[in-house]
Amino acid sequence: MRYLVTGGAGFIGSNMVDELVRRGHKVVVLDDLSAGKESNLADVRSKIDLRVGSITDLAAVQSACHGADYVIHLAARTSVPRSVQDPIGTNFVNIDGTLNVLVAARDAKVRRIVFAASSSAYGETPTLPKTETMPADPISPYGITKYVGELYAKVFGRVYGLENACVRYFNVFGPRQDPSSQYSGVLSRFMLAVIEGQQPVVFGDGEQSRDFTFIENIVDETLRACEARGASGMVFNGGTGARITLNQVLKLLEKLSGKKIQAKYDPPRTGDIRDSQADISLAEKVLGYQPLVHFEEGLQRTWEWYKGAYGKKQGG
Ligand code: UD1
Repeated sequence: MRYLVTGGAGFIGSNMVDELVRRGHKVVVLDDLSAGKESNLADVRSKIDLRVGSITDLAAVQSACHGADYVIHLAARTSVPRSVQDPIGTNFVNIDGTLNVLVAARDAKVRRIVFAASSSAYGETPTLPKTETMPADPISPYGITKYVGELYAKVFGRVYGLENACVRYFNVFGPRQDPSSQYSGVLSRFMLAVIEGQQPVVFGDGEQSRDFTFIENIVDETLRACEARGASGMVFNGGTGARITLNQVLKLLEKLSGKKIQAKYDPPRTGDIRDSQADISLAEKVLGYQPLVHFEEGLQRTWEWYKGAYGKKQGG
């Protein structure tokens, strides 16, 4: 099969592409390299077709989509605080860009498109775990854009018969997550800080919790969402069903690193939700999904990877 992976040079995308290649599929990557890096694709570079271009460029998306059987749409501006800073920029990439991808997928008559939606669609709904039947109520511009992407995908199913599925990712982490920006995922920030002997910064009291999901789980679930019968038109949580607070994560990192960690506590970030935990029973039922790697194992594997990638300069 031929897959188009938008955002395929990024953290999640490149792990997805590795697995697709491992399974013997043909892969086209469309990535503007704004967050992704060609080096993330080093292991498969000679086997894939990498197109450097943006999803905001319809012609580039159409060309990349040509002949595709499946589209996995990951390209996005991913950060909540960045969307608070720049709602127009996030809206442009995440909504206009997604619309381009849907139009191109429709015109190329692909079998199905799977959209990387986000748990941020739930907003502050107090009930845990979050089930897909709860009303969406995003509290950040980013959450809005990801929810609108779902609505568009569903409407393209109804209006044009484009098969689609959405997976609401819950805080994905793992090797290749880029820790270098203030907008990077919290686990990557914490690990880099510990490796560099800096104080990790916690926004708020550290008692906020997340369903941190190791990358291999989300790759597996997303590929299931491409192929599973009866999944079209549906929205699935992409998590593990558990949650852990930032303070608990720091304790585990102390154990892994063998270092005493003294975090710096700053005021909470605007647009952040407090708690997040996925109910994964729908994905279990329809996709046959089960998390393959549990949090602590994922954390350990990620830690080993960061030590290799970022620890050398510090001699650790
Ligand atoms: C993350 C994803 C988002 C995804 C969502 C799904 C990233 C960058 N964002 O958002 O794309 O849709 O999960 O649930 O991966 N924090 C700190 N210190 C830091 C950085 C963050 O304390 O240095 C805190 C934040 O204030 C927040 C929590 O950690 O309370 C998680 O933040 P972050 O990793 O940015 O993820 P989300 O905002 O949950």
